[in-house]
Amino acid sequence: MKKVSILSLILFLPLLASCVEKQVYIVYFGEHRGDKALHEIEDTHHSYLFSVKKSEEEARASLLYSYKHSINGFAAVLSPDEASKLSELDEVVSVFQSHPRKYSLQTTRSWEFVGLEEVEGHQKQRRKGGDLLLKARYGREVIVGLLDNGVWPESKSFNDQGMGPIPKSWKGVCQTGTAFDSSHCNRKLIGARYYLKGYEHFYGTLNTTNDYRSPRDKDGHGTHTASTVGGRRVPNTSALGGFAYGTASGGAPLARLAIYKVCWPIPGHSKVDGNTCFAEDMLAALDDAIADGVHVLSISIGTKEPTPLTDDGIAIGAFHATKRNIVVACSAGNNGPTPSTLSNTAPWIITVGASSVDRDFVAPVVLGNGIKVEGQTITPSKLEKKMYPLVYAADVVVPEVPKNGTAGQCLPGSLSPEKAKGKIVLCLRGDGTRVGKGKEVKRAGGAGFILGNSPANGGEITVDAHVLPATAVSSDDAIRILNYINSTKNPMATIIPARTVLHTRPAPSMAMFSSRGPNVIDPNILKPDITAPGLNILAAWSEGSSPTKLEDDPRVVKYNILSGTSMSCPHVAAAAALLKAIHPNWSSAAIRSALMTTAGLQNSKGFPLTDTTGNLANPFQYGSGHFQPTKAADPGLVYDASYDDYLLYLCSFNITDAEPSFKCPKVPPSTLDFNYPSLAIPKLNGTMTVKRTLTNVGGSKSIYFPIVKPPSGFSVKISPSVLNFSHVGQKKSFTITVKAQNNKTVRKIYKGGYAFGWYTWFDGIHVVRSPMAVSLA
Ligand SMILES: *[C@@H]1O[C@H](CO)[C@@H](O)[C@H](O)[C@H]1NC(C)=O
Ligand SMILES: *[C@@H]1O[C@H](CO)[C@@H](O)[C@H](O)[C@H]1NC(C)=O
Ligand SMILES: *[C@@H]1O[C@H](CO)[C@@H](O)[C@H](O)[C@H]1NC(C)=O
Ligand SMILES: *[C@@H]1O[C@H](CO)[C@@H](O)[C@H](O)[C@H]1NC(C)=O
Ligand SMILES: *[C@@H]1O[C@H](CO)[C@@H](O)[C@H](O)[C@H]1NC(C)=O
Ligand SMILES: *[C@@H]1O[C@H](CO)[C@@H](O)[C@H](O)[C@H]1NC(C)=O
Ligand SMILES: *[C@@H]1O[C@H](CO)[C@@H](O)[C@H](O)[C@H]1NC(C)=O
Ligand SMILES: *[C@@H]1O[C@H](CO)[C@@H](O)[C@H](O)[C@H]1NC(C)=O
Ligand SMILES: *[C@@H]1O[C@H](CO)[C@@H](O)[C@H](O)[C@H]1NC(C)=O
Repeated sequence: MKKVSILSLILFLPLLASCVEKQVYIVYFGEHRGDKALHEIEDTHHSYLFSVKKSEEEARASLLYSYKHSINGFAAVLSPDEASKLSELDEVVSVFQSHPRKYSLQTTRSWEFVGLEEVEGHQKQRRKGGDLLLKARYGREVIVGLLDNGVWPESKSFNDQGMGPIPKSWKGVCQTGTAFDSSHCNRKLIGARYYLKGYEHFYGTLNTTNDYRSPRDKDGHGTHTASTVGGRRVPNTSALGGFAYGTASGGAPLARLAIYKVCWPIPGHSKVDGNTCFAEDMLAALDDAIADGVHVLSISIGTKEPTPLTDDGIAIGAFHATKRNIVVACSAGNNGPTPSTLSNTAPWIITVGASSVDRDFVAPVVLGNGIKVEGQTITPSKLEKKMYPLVYAADVVVPEVPKNGTAGQCLPGSLSPEKAKGKIVLCLRGDGTRVGKGKEVKRAGGAGFILGNSPANGGEITVDAHVLPATAVSSDDAIRILNYINSTKNPMATIIPARTVLHTRPAPSMAMFSSRGPNVIDPNILKPDITAPGLNILAAWSEGSSPTKLEDDPRVVKYNILSGTSMSCPHVAAAAALLKAIHPNWSSAAIRSALMTTAGLQNSKGFPLTDTTGNLANPFQYGSGHFQPTKAADPGLVYDASYDDYLLYLCSFNITDAEPSFKCPKVPPSTLDFNYPSLAIPKLNGTMTVKRTLTNVGGSKSIYFPIVKPPSGFSVKISPSVLNFSHVGQKKSFTITVKAQNNKTVRKIYKGGYAFGWYTWFDGIHVVRSPMAVSLA
């Protein structure tokens, strides 16, 4: 059988091949046949290794992981030649190299801390959706696994007071290690494990100054995402600076959490600069999580570049999860607003974009001329009530710093203490981290600092808890402040202390950083799938870290604010957990479909979703729209897909061996016909007809009619024009015919670009809506 070999691509890159003599490769065989005991599987993996290695000992020493539960494969240290030999074997689906900094957690490097309210975005829905939580019994029977960088188990968000016994189906463990023993698991945190072999093979032994050799979180990210999914309701919590006061809660407050720590610090780099997660470690975690019995997986990890399915540890692991009906939610990535930057594009994954919530942390700048400029921060420290001299960073740099675009960015060591002391310094975004710029101003003795957005950030303010009095302003406002500085001899300013303001502006709106479609791995699958809150999100934090993650920031906080698709992913995982509780028999595809077809398209002002700069957003940013868990509980119809459907999908990519018992047809179907809740037709030449099948999960007798909003320049016909369901579980198919109105005007507009439209099935109660994206050949 034909198979895909990523390896051949790698081997043609002489540079890579020569400097990476012996690397970790993952040799992937698909599903297990289910006829072997665990030790026999490992023996088999050894024998494959032995077939390319000189000795038995060498074979044993080279094996990092043998994946034994559902994923059949192993990770081993191989030369390119050995890897190539293994990839020739018939039973091998793919062989791919592990890359050291390919995967990372997807925050935008923003950190701060405020007091507690309900986790944003859930707040409104909880009022309307108390019913949903009750129906789902707050998710108490549902187990959510998180692949992340650990957990701070002492956080009140993870207390298990009043929780019932651990579900009997649970087979996981509480793995002990540094500062983590079995007492740190409880009826809320029911499992914890950590995975280091891939990391340590590359970087050497973990430096325990920087992280715990255990499931404990020394960063904050893992604690944040875990509490967003399933943190308990923690009332009356106030925070450093006292911005907010209220109840903190995860989306499924009684769901059980299982922590799989797979991401670690990068040696020689500050935690602010990111982290790394190795494919072989993630595969081991996913293999365990599936066997442990998780129901939902939340994975806020991705790549900077889109990754082919056969080369993608997350896609492969998630595929095996799908066989057990485990719902997998992943972050879309933070590489927007550039198009085609999505990670986690496999059709069995819910790919989540990020959007804003309707809460601001208002801290304006008052200029010497009396003009007030809007700003936001969650920095607790305050300036005195007086005016301070104001300078632009580029005007107060040390002589060695060249006077170019980066001079105004407050990079480490760039500012002159003589010139900056006692002043408010305006720094621009660009290179470096936001909190790092504050640290530089503080080092130079500045009194305060204004962080100005670059044009790419526009008006999207990501708030931070800076190490000195500060606020952040839009790119337009940064230019206004610069003009003011230029216009006067003695520019002055002050920053008014921040306060929390609700319902300030239309929300949600799409975050500029949220990665965008089209999906370059399979343009026939529209991605992302959905959007959820990811800008300035409050959740629990690790006390082993500081709110900025800066090593010399002594502050310790219990709750913190972060931004990223890392934050939106656990929101959707929580919603999936609630749906799983209400509909335990639904497939993972049905749950995804329910979330997607009921998603919202309007902001709080009743207008179509925009990005944070006010430009109209489209399905390549938000997928089907903003998630609405309450509506998703009763979607009426779902676009279902079985494990076999996914195997058939893989056939179209020449991946024919993923399941031993499954035979690909000679001519695999087009992935355009994959029963997805959305539709993308790239390069349409003339007319295209695709098929979809709906399953009735609503009332027994229901009649649905289609409503179509065709992409402009195209006509869309749905057939049949009525779907008459007589019982629950009944399936009905229909076709969508899209025709390009092939005139010059349309060609000119859409050549290469996409037009967007919608088709909706409506029975008078349920709105089952799908986005469509079409481009011309
Ligand atoms: C471990 O990390 C700390 C802090 O970054 C550093 O000072 C120390 O030298 C590192 N130790 C080793 C053995 O690399
Ligand atoms: C929280 O504060 C409210 C109002 O101050 C009070 O009524 C309530 O008892 C407090 N709850 C807890 C758990 O402290
Ligand atoms: C400015 O100069 C520095 C030092 O030569 C260089 O690293 C940086 O890339 C330059 N920035 C721009 C925007 O040209
Ligand atoms: C400020 O003035 C300097 C020199 O006069 C000029 O180069 C710069 O472009 C001005 N900046 C703005 C924002 O007007
Ligand atoms: C759900 O699945 C369980 C176990 O497979 C089965 O016993 C039950 O009848 C199913 N319920 C429905 C409503 O299909
Ligand atoms: C699959 O294999 C066939 C025959 O070997 C080849 O023609 C086709 O291009 C391959 N398709 C993909 C998506 O790799
Ligand atoms: C579109 O289809 C027509 C007829 O099948 C064909 O002649 C033409 O080359 C196609 N155009 C493109 C751009 O593929
Ligand atoms: C081309 O098609 C578009 C969309 O259907 C239509 O609005 C426009 O009037 C047409 N132009 C011409 C020249 O036919
Ligand atoms: C739907 O099906 C029922 C039962 O088969 C039939 O009585 C009814 O007329 C149908 N309605 C429509 C609109 O086709």
